[in-house]
Amino acid sequence: MTQVTLSETAAAGPGVVPKDSLTVIDNRTGKSYQLPVEHGTVRAMDLRQIKTEPDDFGMMSYDPAFMNTASCRSRITFIDGDRGILRYRGYPIEQLAEKSSYLETAYLILSGELPTKAQHDGWVFDITHHTMVHENVKDLMMGFRYDAHPMGMLASTVAALSTFYPEAKQIHDPLVRRKQIHRLIAKIPTLAAFAYRHSRGLPYVYPDNELSFAGNFLSMMFKTTEIRYQVNPALERAMDVLFILHADHEQNCSTSAMRGVGSSYVDPYIAAAAAIGALYGPLHGGANEQVLRMLADIGSREKVPAFVKEVKESGGEVKLMGFGHRVYKNYDPRAKVIKEMADRVFEVTGRNPLLDIALELEKIALSDEYFLKRKLYPNVDFYSGLIYQAMGFPVDMFPVLFAIGRMSGWLAQWEEMVQDKEQKIARPRQVYLGADKRDFVPMLKRS
Ligand code: ACO
Repeated sequence: MTQVTLSETAAAGPGVVPKDSLTVIDNRTGKSYQLPVEHGTVRAMDLRQIKTEPDDFGMMSYDPAFMNTASCRSRITFIDGDRGILRYRGYPIEQLAEKSSYLETAYLILSGELPTKAQHDGWVFDITHHTMVHENVKDLMMGFRYDAHPMGMLASTVAALSTFYPEAKQIHDPLVRRKQIHRLIAKIPTLAAFAYRHSRGLPYVYPDNELSFAGNFLSMMFKTTEIRYQVNPALERAMDVLFILHADHEQNCSTSAMRGVGSSYVDPYIAAAAAIGALYGPLHGGANEQVLRMLADIGSREKVPAFVKEVKESGGEVKLMGFGHRVYKNYDPRAKVIKEMADRVFEVTGRNPLLDIALELEKIALSDEYFLKRKLYPNVDFYSGLIYQAMGFPVDMFPVLFAIGRMSGWLAQWEEMVQDKEQKIARPRQVYLGADKRDFVPMLKRS
């Protein structure tokens, strides 16, 4: 058996197996390899040296859907899915939801630290003064059909912003990056509200700089003929907290899209449009929309047991939307905050009648062997839709609301990726299982 060592192994001295290493024995050749272990990971590239022949490509790891592969080292968000923990830059989500505002949290996520008063005021000023969009964007939106889904409109208009700010291509210039970050966080509520107004045939409402981030968004959504929209403080706070809860969630599908597309050094508008596309899917940000549709389809508390039975017997075909998570194998901490907040919102809006169905569904699912065995608990989307609906948002706006909050996280992850010296253009490998080389057959000779 030959001993093949890497540089860290060599540093430990001959014959000494370093503690922070993984010994791999290739039974095809009898060779043994020591792979350095750092932060609980081995580098997939270290496997490449494991070969059966000198001209062999080398060993790869196979990991469909990235079930166990870290694609980056990040300092932004920490999740412990087994214990139901979520922290942004070290701060527990529960504390941020109670004590912070969305813009303060966005600053934290992007810069790594909570802002001083002066930093906070400057940041809020910058975001507030970038909320307008070019009038041509309105013309562009006019081209959508009356029933266009607002997520499709959002993805398209965010991509279109790329054409308005060509300097955004200078992604290695920190000042240019900062400007686009201001623009994207500031303009996404405007685009989201315009998409809604378009679908209702209502005139677009321009931003109001006197209002808070959440208050301005509610004004652009719901203002009619009044001179100034009177924002209900409880709903304004609920909206802000929902944005905080959605601000980041480490390497989920849309963030991976943001990083992956951004790794080609395209500008952040195009990368963010790709992230919005990923978020649109019913298994990701589209889930809260599906939860509401599911609750409405169930129709009443009495029908919950029959629906749960259908889910269990469907062999994975029918899912309990808003349940389960790739990372959380415990109650999603964001769902807990939202559930607690629901009562405060319903005091203002009146109780959402679907809440009773949701509570019954949660009760039955959390005492059922099928869900317990698979560690399926309510996720962030289970209760958020009920609040959104009570506040007057139509279901197809739900993923759009998610995208508004998540924009700060996408941008923080994108900026971290751009500055990370280890990152390159994202380019996964594949295991090829297709046909061997064969010669072309003319059409008339094919059987
Ligand atoms: N209802 C019923 N069964 C479920 C559900 C569910 N919501 N979620 C998972 N399962 C079952 C699967 O069928 C599978 O069963 P099996 O072991 O008998 O085959 C088992 O639980 C494991 O599920 P996976 O699909 O392997 O879990 P994965 O980590 O790949 O999927 C996901 C996670 C996509 C979130 C899944 O739980 C799901 O589809 N949930 C419903 C959609 C949803 O709420 N998405 C929002 C996620 S949160 C977010 O994106 C913000």
